[in-house]
Amino acid sequence: MGLLDDKVAVVTGAGRGIGREIALCLAGEGARVVVNDIGTSLDGAGLAQDPAAEVCAAIESLGGKAVPSYESVSDFEAAGRIVAQAVDSFGSVDILVNNAGIVRDRTLLKMDEGDYDAVVAVHQKGTFNTTRHAAAHMKEAGYGRIVNITSSAGLRGNFGQTNYGAAKAAIMGMTFVWALELGRYGITVNAVAPSGLTRMTENLFGGEDAPADQDPALNAPLVAFLASEQASYVNGQVLGRTGFAYTIFQTPRQVAAMWRDGGWTPTEVADHFHDVLGQHLQPVGMPAHPLLGKKAD
Ligand SMILES: NC(=O)c1ccc[n+]([C@@H]2O[C@H](COP(=O)([O-])OP(=O)(O)OC[C@H]3O[C@@H](n4cnc5c(N)ncnc54)[C@H](O)[C@@H]3O)[C@@H](O)[C@H]2O)c1
Repeated sequence: MGLLDDKVAVVTGAGRGIGREIALCLAGEGARVVVNDIGTSLDGAGLAQDPAAEVCAAIESLGGKAVPSYESVSDFEAAGRIVAQAVDSFGSVDILVNNAGIVRDRTLLKMDEGDYDAVVAVHQKGTFNTTRHAAAHMKEAGYGRIVNITSSAGLRGNFGQTNYGAAKAAIMGMTFVWALELGRYGITVNAVAPSGLTRMTENLFGGEDAPADQDPALNAPLVAFLASEQASYVNGQVLGRTGFAYTIFQTPRQVAAMWRDGGWTPTEVADHFHDVLGQHLQPVGMPAHPLLGKKAD
């Protein structure tokens, strides 16, 4: 018995990297999988069918069931065809993992409009496109599991990633909205900020072999759990992976307040800000949690 027996999953960007491992893991847990990938370069240029086809062959060789999809998530109609393929091939769409992505990293002052639009189109619009189509089927079925792949770049900020950070933060926002809207229909929507050595991150390791805890396959078991019936009580959450740890992010919330009946003047804000809200200023960026990776003696 697998965690996902009889379920049908769509995994976008599943031809390589983290998505490939998610597709293999979901299939290993019994799901039939639409392996969607346009086989593009890291910055979104070019198309190839080999990555999605290879992952399907790998799933089939392990006794699973999968079909390739070569449609782009950034096109609304094409995204509809990805979802339709799940229904046509396997009879339903129970699980959607929005994982497809590209990067075009540049600092704000070097980023042109095309770089911004291209990255937002795949991550943010692509996540909307597939979910808009899949959610209609899930509502009708009274069941669904949606896992949106976000990133600490959007949750916390990362140098050189205006476009990517914007899109990944938007994915967090849509996750919260959809958890509220779709939860009523038996559909859960959660976000996962994964990590791992893929072509997207290989320059972080300077050509060296990546440590074992950077294996992109380490993200997949958490996604499989969130995609399962057992995770029915997990909705609207932002989870992550760092090293061998799965983590949960705090939802942004007010941590302090300064009050004045009738409101404030700018000068009054300047006079009081430091002593009240100024005591709670928070760092941006993504330093590791000091305890992560440290095993107690
Ligand atoms: N690698 C990391 O450490 C890391 C960290 C945080 C978040 N992420 C996120 O994880 C996801 C997977 O990243 P990865 O590192 O495996 O990258 P990757 O480049 O190895 O894989 C991404 C895949 O998405 C496909 N793709 C791109 N545009 C597409 C489109 N329009 N339609 C369908 N498929 C498309 C690509 O062809 C590629 O195979 C991305 O959303 C990424 O932002 C990765």
